[in-house]
Amino acid sequence: MRIAVFASGTGTNYRAIAAAAAKGQLPHVELALVLSDREAAPVLAKAAADAVPQAFVDPKAYASKVAFETHILALLQEQQIELIVLAGYMRIIGQTLLDAYRGKIINIHPSLLPSFPGKNGLADAFAYGVKITGATVHYVDAGIDTGPIIAQEMIRITEDDTLATVTEKIHQIEHRLYPAVLAKLTEKG
Ligand code: GRF
Repeated sequence: MRIAVFASGTGTNYRAIAAAAAKGQLPHVELALVLSDREAAPVLAKAAADAVPQAFVDPKAYASKVAFETHILALLQEQQIELIVLAGYMRIIGQTLLDAYRGKIINIHPSLLPSFPGKNGLADAFAYGVKITGATVHYVDAGIDTGPIIAQEMIRITEDDTLATVTEKIHQIEHRLYPAVLAKLTEKG
């Protein structure tokens, strides 16, 4: 299955997926494209180092979200992408991509959804004082972090934890969880 990873930032989840693929843990996944809406996103350099095709699509260059996503859709179709994997992509997916990839877009979110959706989910959970949080992989629908849940994993927050240590713990489980979900979703080829 040819996948595109969409990311706006660092790309540690992209790296975890690429590492799992390199170790032979994703036999039915072909990392066909890394797409970013930020030219300076470190994830693009990481993809270049792995010789994975990269694309930067500048949202400011388009008059509307529809025009922006129509261009992305053309790139995806050109690359025959079958599954979109959001990994720190800081933009809401619009109707153009949702219609074209119904049930074929997944996201990872750093909280136990439906608690703490949104771009500050991890920090919001920590600030709230929850003692258990985690990461969720889910299908993407038109809402913000609202689609059907595929998998979740939890961590405990102790008195010694800071936002930094919780972030680190969550990243660790994300880096295991996302490749595992991808392996399962693609196992039928
Ligand atoms: C992850 O914590 C993910 O849950 C959230 O954005 C972050 C991306 O991190 N959606 P990275 O760029 O993969 O390091």
